[in-house]
Amino acid sequence: MEYKNFERFNRPVPTWFSDAKFGIFIHWGAYSVPAWAEPTGELGTVDDSVWMAHNPYAEWYYNTIRIEGSPAQKHQQEVYGGAPYDDFLDQWKASKFNPDDWAALFAKAGAQYVIPTTKHHDGITLWDAPGTGTRNTVARGPKRDLVGAIGDAVRKVGIKFGVYYSGGLDWSVDNFPPMTIGDHVRGFRPSDAAYAMYCYEHITDLINRYKPDVLWDDIEYPDFAKREGPYSLAAIFDHYYKSVPQGVINDRWGVPHSDYKTSEYQHSLDNESGAAWENCRGIGLSFGYNQIEDEKHYMSINAAQHHLIDIVSRGGNLLLNVGPTADGEIPAFQRKVLEGIGAWIAVNKAAIYASRVAEDVKPSDSPWVRWTANGKKRYAIIDATGSVEFDAPESAVDIKSATVLGGGAIAVTRNGSKISMTISAPKVEGPTVVAFN
Ligand code: GLC
Repeated sequence: MEYKNFERFNRPVPTWFSDAKFGIFIHWGAYSVPAWAEPTGELGTVDDSVWMAHNPYAEWYYNTIRIEGSPAQKHQQEVYGGAPYDDFLDQWKASKFNPDDWAALFAKAGAQYVIPTTKHHDGITLWDAPGTGTRNTVARGPKRDLVGAIGDAVRKVGIKFGVYYSGGLDWSVDNFPPMTIGDHVRGFRPSDAAYAMYCYEHITDLINRYKPDVLWDDIEYPDFAKREGPYSLAAIFDHYYKSVPQGVINDRWGVPHSDYKTSEYQHSLDNESGAAWENCRGIGLSFGYNQIEDEKHYMSINAAQHHLIDIVSRGGNLLLNVGPTADGEIPAFQRKVLEGIGAWIAVNKAAIYASRVAEDVKPSDSPWVRWTANGKKRYAIIDATGSVEFDAPESAVDIKSATVLGGGAIAVTRNGSKISMTISAPKVEGPTVVAFN
């Protein structure tokens, strides 16, 4: 297949995206009703022969319960008598869903963009998408345009709004057996003209109705559409950039165009380079809410802060996922982590937003130090207290200019390329930032 015309889409990454650093992903669906998965491990660390039958992603429930002998299949039998998956759509009531409350939490967390799933692999759409009949959240279950409700609420508080769409997998239109190994993910994709047209209608409807700031596709796109001409993916990109000139497109369409690359947990870490990239993960081991998870599986506030800061120091964005319950509540452990990140960012935002990679200084793990830059400014983000010493060449850092963000001047001494200082206990939980002007 020739993609030469896709080059016309190449352009500099819109600054808002490079500056944003922190976004919120939302996985909410009929799968949030059973909310059940084995907390097996992080993607990228689990053997392929184990993953599918013990999939830690609760949003994969409909695949996992079809794998003969899987613990999920047993669970579905025992708890729901093997009832059809679509019953969960009717049981999904979202009765406590309060989009303004979600938006307030995301704003408090310091998130700059929010991306909900609008159609996950189960094919159920969170708006009344063309061609879905009643298999959407407006006709059944929540009885509401959830995409629009989330979009309006987050934009009202100044947060950008993108859409996740599973173009690759749609278990409502294919007749494939369940996926049991990783290769099936790319192999068992509906890709014919009819499905390509179905997706075309969906994505253009999402663009026309919601003008999303991010178009986030998953697991490729129907092969039939990977061409030029009417109803093609190229036509979608053309239409999108015309409708949303500052919009950004992720890298999972299976064609040679993207505004930024993505990694997921420990998977595709080689994508974490270049002009723009984004790592996504859940706070636990799943994107969809998994009631089986507990403290052991969640990131602590400290671990989540480290993850964000480390990504930002390497030039990426973090898209941190929340998995609401079927009622529409964001579970307490997820709120706690978002609030912990937000409280820290509120004090230390100068080191995060609009920062760039500090090429002239090196990170360290003992003590834990990450660096960011903004013009000539350098920010040392240090997770240690008491007397600390680390590398900071004189050419990069003027010790006389040191101040603590949220505090005052700090005395720093130099011995060759090493600098030392005494860091007192931080006022908010998290690393201390020393700024050098
Ligand atoms: C994956 C998974 C999925 C999740 C996602 C997030 O490809 O299939 O369940 O939505 O990516 O990055």
